Amino acid sequence: MRVVIITGASDGIGAEMARQLASKEGAGVALVLAARNAAQLDAVAAECSAFGAQALAVPTDVSVRIQCRRLVISAVERFGRIDVLVNNAGRSAHALFEEVEDLDWYEELMRVNLWGSVWCTQAALPHIKATRGSIVAVSSLAGLVGVPGRTAYSATKFAMTGFFEALRAEMKGAGVSVTTAYPGVVATQIRYRGFNAQGEPMGTSSLKEEGAMSVEECARLIIGGMNARKREVVMTAKGKIGRFLKLIAPGLVEKIALAALKQDVRPK
Ligand SMILES: NC(=O)c1ccc[n+]([C@@H]2O[C@H](COP(=O)([O-])OP(=O)(O)OC[C@H]3O[C@@H](n4cnc5c(N)ncnc54)[C@H](OP(=O)(O)O)[C@@H]3O)[C@@H](O)[C@H]2O)c1
Repeated sequence: MRVVIITGASDGIGAEMARQLASKEGAGVALVLAARNAAQLDAVAAECSAFGAQALAVPTDVSVRIQCRRLVISAVERFGRIDVLVNNAGRSAHALFEEVEDLDWYEELMRVNLWGSVWCTQAALPHIKATRGSIVAVSSLAGLVGVPGRTAYSATKFAMTGFFEALRAEMKGAGVSVTTAYPGVVATQIRYRGFNAQGEPMGTSSLKEEGAMSVEECARLIIGGMNARKREVVMTAKGKIGRFLKLIAPGLVEKIALAALKQDVRPK
């Protein structure tokens, strides 16, 4: 039975990954589900159990180092091993840097998106080495190209990109795979919950949501990359072209990004 820890499993991409793994692998998988909202986490765990999978909900705030350690200890106490850690918990943010007065929430965002991933990875690594297992990091296309209006978010996702790229090389000899996923715009509530310039939840999306990838498709692509032990899962044609275009025509990529910012649909 493979043991999979998923952070940010109470909703969105993490919850959908849990449901898909449970429905495909049934009794062959044990899911350790982490997020702050215990009631929502229990609901996702119940859905996974209904597919025959074992599911353990561990209420966790990944921005608190000791809670990341406790999450890993709970998984090992219950199931005796860890095969996969999916670092998916994350928050979004949308503000022009010049609009921000108090930068405290920039630090908070870095603690959730980067440090939560680093702390969970450090605690789980000896166990994942023992099973020659896998680590997954859910970054973003904003972790490949700097997006105007997203200085805080892009900084956290570029940091994840660099951390996991370096770790991948360090772990090659140990037989541990590190897969970094770069979703584009996915239809979840993340943008509504993200920080605004004042560090409060946005309450509204800053993007046109019509073209978003479905959460089912995004989870399926991440699971595929994770199971194939791929280095990267870059989603959408725009993402694939954008990262290479940036190397040969960075001015053009800036123009495209600024044009997208002008379409910003936040209330003015
Ligand atoms: N949706 C997109 O368009 C998109 C695009 C690119 C990348 N991503 C990345 O994909 C990941 C998942 O995003 P999503 O779209 O599924 O967002 P979502 O629907 O808002 O879900 C985010 C999950 O993270 C959890 N979370 C937030 N803060 C946490 C904390 N401090 N400790 C533990 N868990 C926490 C939330 O649960 P609680 O509130 O219960 O803690 C929730 O389960 C994120 O890393 C995001 O940056 C998303």
